[in-house]
Amino acid sequence: MSAISSERPPALRRVLAQPIPPEGEGGFSRTWFPICLSADVPAGTVTGRDFLDGRVVVYRGPDGAARVLSAYCPHLGADLSVGDVHEGQLRCAFHHWRFDTTGTCVATGCGDPAPPRARLFAFPVQERYGVVWAFNGETPTFDLPDFPVPDDRLAIRTLELDEIFPVDPWVFCANTPDVQHIKALHGITFDDGDPDPDRFTWTDHSFRYGFEGRLPSGDPISYEIGITGTNIFYQSGSVNGRWFGFIMPFGIPRPGSITSFMVLAARTDDSGEGDTQEFLDSVQALEESIVDDDRPVLNTIHFRPGTTTRSDKSLNRFLHYVRGFPRTHPARDFIN
Ligand code: FES
Ligand SMILES: [Fe+2]
Repeated sequence: MSAISSERPPALRRVLAQPIPPEGEGGFSRTWFPICLSADVPAGTVTGRDFLDGRVVVYRGPDGAARVLSAYCPHLGADLSVGDVHEGQLRCAFHHWRFDTTGTCVATGCGDPAPPRARLFAFPVQERYGVVWAFNGETPTFDLPDFPVPDDRLAIRTLELDEIFPVDPWVFCANTPDVQHIKALHGITFDDGDPDPDRFTWTDHSFRYGFEGRLPSGDPISYEIGITGTNIFYQSGSVNGRWFGFIMPFGIPRPGSITSFMVLAARTDDSGEGDTQEFLDSVQALEESIVDDDRPVLNTIHFRPGTTTRSDKSLNRFLHYVRGFPRTHPARDFIN
């Protein structure tokens, strides 16, 4: 008979690194967020989207440029996405108050003077690559990423994925510096060993690195990849020697989830139109297969930075970058 020890083993503790608060705590990342496709906003229409912890509307002003404004009418709170565009102004369906492109109420339906404080929040907006982008901040602090090919020599294809992933954008973006998963999950090999995080290019709002390697099919690749903000994946490179560009920005329709867009780019001077579209088909299939690899992990992950190894150095650096990335929420009182 063996004696039963009265001593218990020391309690097991999981080793955790400093956590990263979810988006929405202390505001949201001060970055450009994709709101919708340009094609979703024909002139004269209003469309509504959930954004951050609230809601916005998108429409085109008299100059044709897209605007993103808080969705709820300052009168009694009607959702302006059920309103219309009247003589270039956004008009509420409920009592016909009208707003100009800056969000200022310029007229009430009944003729009473517009209350001076009746206004909507107007986000800084850009329309680029077939996407309407809004900056979460009063003034943009950086620009969208550029491809190394002039826009007029690019064929662009843009789409929005149907699904909403249950993670913050930075969790998906943490894939990019996560060199271990690029090999293990995606089966990509590096020709010259793992990319060296000390040779990444970091700014206060982005990082980039390059490598040469092979896809699981054996096709040679040469990529420059990185993240802008905490939510925009950027890629410029080649498969089998032919250049393509790819941007995958993530939006926040509500805290803890993301919408995903794909911007695919090919050079128009590489070949004829039919061939360019075929090439874009192949790039789209390649990028969708990468998302297919990530999907089961991202749909179930409970992301908690824990025990890491030497090969996680670039991932750790990214997590540090995310922890320090500015958060803000100037539209808080308007969009919800
Ligand atoms: S709620 Fe919009 S005009 Fe009254
Ligand atoms: Fe991945």
